[in-house]
Amino acid sequence: MTPLTGFILFLLIYFLRAVSADKHSLLYLYTIQSKNYDCTAVTLLNYRQIDFYNSSSDKPRTAKQNWLMNISESDWKTRTEKLQYDTQLLKKLLDTQINEFRNTHSDGHVLQWRHGCEGEQSSDGSLTVLNSINEFGYDGEDLIQFNCTSKTWITPEEKKNREREEEKNREREEKKNREREEEKNREREEEKNREREEKWSRIFNAVKKCLHCEEMLKIYLQYKTTDITQSNSEYLGVVIWVILV
Ligand SMILES: *[C@@H]1O[C@H](CO)[C@@H](O)[C@H](O)[C@H]1NC(C)=O
Ligand SMILES: *[C@@H]1O[C@H](CO)[C@@H](O)[C@H](O)[C@H]1NC(C)=O
Ligand SMILES: *[C@@H]1O[C@H](CO)[C@@H](O)[C@H](O)[C@H]1NC(C)=O
Repeated sequence: MTPLTGFILFLLIYFLRAVSADKHSLLYLYTIQSKNYDCTAVTLLNYRQIDFYNSSSDKPRTAKQNWLMNISESDWKTRTEKLQYDTQLLKKLLDTQINEFRNTHSDGHVLQWRHGCEGEQSSDGSLTVLNSINEFGYDGEDLIQFNCTSKTWITPEEKKNREREEEKNREREEKKNREREEEKNREREEEKNREREEKWSRIFNAVKKCLHCEEMLKIYLQYKTTDITQSNSEYLGVVIWVILV
């Protein structure tokens, strides 16, 4: 299963799910071949095929549901003309695509177009569009899609990049949160340190004692006598005594 057929399946299931009592969907699926510009199209209304179009046929459009035979001639004509117009448009797009990819027509390339929408009908008959799609595929791969909400074109690559970018932003945000947390921890730590500092400083002046120790040590060390070079434990005892005094 190519990604494209997978995607169409997904769409169909999606649209099928979307079709409930007051929800309606319309989906157009077009395929154009490069060999002879054969263009075929189907229209799905609420997931059911209603017509079939073949640009190469003498009778290009056929109805697949009885009620469609009953629609006004002008409505039928309008839609049929639209299909013919779309075929010309797709021909141009296919040519552009073939040139861009440096392909040749004879190799048999395929351009697919699917567009549609889903809407909800309220009791007064008015319709609110909920979702729209408008996408092209080339040789079974997603090519580009149009976002009807943002009115922008996006390629699968850009989409992936954008998703990656969003992921990165999320990670950056998480990192920032982590950093904020670490900062808070640091602040808490500092606060604790400050409290400890204050408490012990009140009890005794450690800095003064340090200086005193240093002084005393220097004094002691001036004497290179055997008296001073006592055993380590005695020496340590003196130092501790100096600190505590
Ligand atoms: C479209 O019509 C042409 C000409 O009648 C025919 O050769 C071709 O097979 C048709 N294509 C499809 C998909 O029915
Ligand atoms: C088509 O229209 C005729 C006449 O208005 C009607 O009797 C018939 O039921 C309609 N058929 C469908 C499938 O809607
Ligand atoms: C379309 O664009 C809108 C607004 O930018 C965004 O919210 C939405 O997710 C997009 N739809 C898709 C299918 O990318």
